[in-house]
Amino acid sequence: MSQALDEIKIGGLGASRKRVEDNRFIRGKGNYTDDITLPGMLHMEILRSPLAHARIKSIDASKAWDIPGVHLVLTGEMMATRNLAWMPTLSYDTQAVLATDKVRFQGQEVACVIADDPYIAKDACEAIDVEYEPLPVIVNPWQAVADGAPVIRDDKEQQRGNVIYDWEVGDAAGTDRAFEQADVVSRLKLHYPRSHPSPIECCGSIADFNRATSKLTVYMTTQAPHIIRAAVALVAELPEHMIRIISPDIGGGFGNKVPVYPGYVCSILASILLERPVKWIEDKSGNLISTGFARDIYLDGEMALRRDGKILGVRMHCDADHGAFFSDAQPSKFKIGLLHSAFAAYDIPVAHLTARGTYTNKAPGGVAYRCSFRVTEAMFFQERMVQAAADDLGMDQAEFRRMNFVRDDQFPHRTPFGFLTDSGQYAKCLEVGLKAVDYQDFRRQQREARERGRLLGLGISTMTEPLGAGNSREYDILGIKMFDSAELKVHMTGKAIVRTGARGQGQGHETTWAQIVSHELGIPADDIVVEEGDTDTAPFGMGTYASRSTPVAGAAVAMVSRKIRAKARKLAAHLLEVSEEDVEWELGRFYVRSAPDRGVTIQECAMAAYSNMPDGMEPGLENTAYYDPPNLTWPFAVYIVTVEVDPETGVWDVLKLVAVDDCGVRINPMIVEGQIMGGLTEAYAMANMQFITFDADGNCVGSNYMDYLLPTAWETPGFELHSEVVTPCPHHPIGAKGIGECAAVGGPAAYVNAVMDALSGMGVRNIDMPLLPDRVWEAITYRRDVSGAPPVRSDD
Ligand code: CDP
Repeated sequence: MSQALDEIKIGGLGASRKRVEDNRFIRGKGNYTDDITLPGMLHMEILRSPLAHARIKSIDASKAWDIPGVHLVLTGEMMATRNLAWMPTLSYDTQAVLATDKVRFQGQEVACVIADDPYIAKDACEAIDVEYEPLPVIVNPWQAVADGAPVIRDDKEQQRGNVIYDWEVGDAAGTDRAFEQADVVSRLKLHYPRSHPSPIECCGSIADFNRATSKLTVYMTTQAPHIIRAAVALVAELPEHMIRIISPDIGGGFGNKVPVYPGYVCSILASILLERPVKWIEDKSGNLISTGFARDIYLDGEMALRRDGKILGVRMHCDADHGAFFSDAQPSKFKIGLLHSAFAAYDIPVAHLTARGTYTNKAPGGVAYRCSFRVTEAMFFQERMVQAAADDLGMDQAEFRRMNFVRDDQFPHRTPFGFLTDSGQYAKCLEVGLKAVDYQDFRRQQREARERGRLLGLGISTMTEPLGAGNSREYDILGIKMFDSAELKVHMTGKAIVRTGARGQGQGHETTWAQIVSHELGIPADDIVVEEGDTDTAPFGMGTYASRSTPVAGAAVAMVSRKIRAKARKLAAHLLEVSEEDVEWELGRFYVRSAPDRGVTIQECAMAAYSNMPDGMEPGLENTAYYDPPNLTWPFAVYIVTVEVDPETGVWDVLKLVAVDDCGVRINPMIVEGQIMGGLTEAYAMANMQFITFDADGNCVGSNYMDYLLPTAWETPGFELHSEVVTPCPHHPIGAKGIGECAAVGGPAAYVNAVMDALSGMGVRNIDMPLLPDRVWEAITYRRDVSGAPPVRSDD
């Protein structure tokens, strides 16, 4: 008779356990960087450039130095004497820490003041006199490559123009042949605009250098503490073992907190020079104009089609606007991230992608905002292109997708750009979604509404996201291979602590990692504490972004639990006085195969590890596992949105949104649903309301919450989520695939496709996001495409 524990009751896999971290968050007891006050702490503020491109003729900081309470003024010149005026980026480029020669974007860091309090520091920043000589400004890739364009990065000896790279992937000749055989060629051109992750908590750091111990401790808002430790060691030339990075609670990251920002570097140098803790907390406008923007790419492509609807090949070209410094965090092999994950869900024989990256006078872009290295842009283009192609063929949207999907029996499947996808039930997800919106009936309603002048639309978007970088063979950042680790310590009473090198920013790791241990060992999740974010205690990890935590760190948690179970089995055999081969496992307990009533619990094994181990066994029940995933995980989703567009105003409302996500085994279904709802909300914001762009002078337009709107519960539509399709990942130890970003990745195209569908027959092929009412109105009124590419007029 089995005495296995009830997994759901102990909070294992599949339990919708309440998030343990919420105990402190909802009581206002979270501990964020800005909550930390150290004895003798000083405050740093940054002076930013008002101009987008200008030569610095002089900087006079004498008035700032004279202000009582000011301890230090840092300028680029001072940084240069310590070889710190420039720092390496995560894409083998360099980035100015404090400007020396020129400013290259509006909001660039020019000087820092360290003072007794932030107000004095801010006033002193205003007292710094900088003389600028304005230069011509570039705000898009076409200006960047135009004849006579000023060279933005004239600091780089080898740099001739503004092109950063020309990159290609796929089979150019094979794609040409596919197009020669096509009955129909469908084309699409669009701009995925800049967007900003805009976490509620801005970036910040408190550097605390202790001369007596030579130890540098930095509390900071980073999603990747170990990478920051390595970066500080290399940039500041400090010994790595003397650097401790602590990433306390983080108020949202979404990719914004992956890069190394000048503010971090300056606060560290200031603390070393002053031998006092130095706190820098970025303000909202600083965050919105200067820290990691996302997207900003122009996608242009065509699809070769057979008359019956079969896709024969795809060509894509991308012009990526990286801003003044190429600072994307992405695998070094891939210049434009995983943009070539496009069309992975479709059975397309051949494809070719070219990408050109350019410098412009904008803050660094390319941050993977809730997205696995440009996959958001890939999926957006894919689903917009698929919609356009189906329309061009006069085919039904659902039927066109169904016909071209990779079938369930085609896995493992090589995508047209060379990735290997391993599992999925694409057609089934689509069917679930279509049923949920009552597809045929909606089409009928749509036709009837049109006859009465009402514009209804339905948009389908599917997405498959490559999540969980590495494997280490192919994925690295700056040469550091991508894998992760977990450490598990089971104490003698059977309680445990698990640590990983990941760093959650609200995703619920403290809840779900415990659930994985619980699933593997039968220790109740409430008996397990999870710790992340301190490089002195956590094992090495590449951090949390690109929804890689569950695929990699989560897998490491399962693997280390299995190591613990293997040792516990030996302890059980010893306690039960049988050989190890005679011992069986069921959740929470080992028992004798021939006498199932004779057993010992995992807790009894833990006690034995410290009090009654067999001769020759190393005491204790602790271990570490490093996990190098064999492949990415490939979750799949279908999002279907129905909308009504008001032809008089261009305002559009969501009638219904159905989401069918297949992320394999769900560790915590409630957390997964939260992740999907959050992603759909962000997708809605990108599609509908988040306007941030640049005028001809490089002024950042929309860098405030009057224009760059954060969606609240008021305007966010309701979502209907479906979880019935589960395709376990064949190589992940517990069958899980990532989920954190899926809805933010796949969502935008669903909303846009719905609005475009409502406008079908009006001769409008594309409206760039955000689909603001005036843009939709313009498209309806003038029957034309509407571009959102900068420059815009500053009064737009
Ligand atoms: O890397 P990040 O944590 O942002 O993304 P993720 O690995 O997709 O996980 C987001 C949250 O959802 C974590 O708390 C996961 O443990 C949870 N999750 C889950 O419960 N089941 C899955 N199959 C995937 C994620």
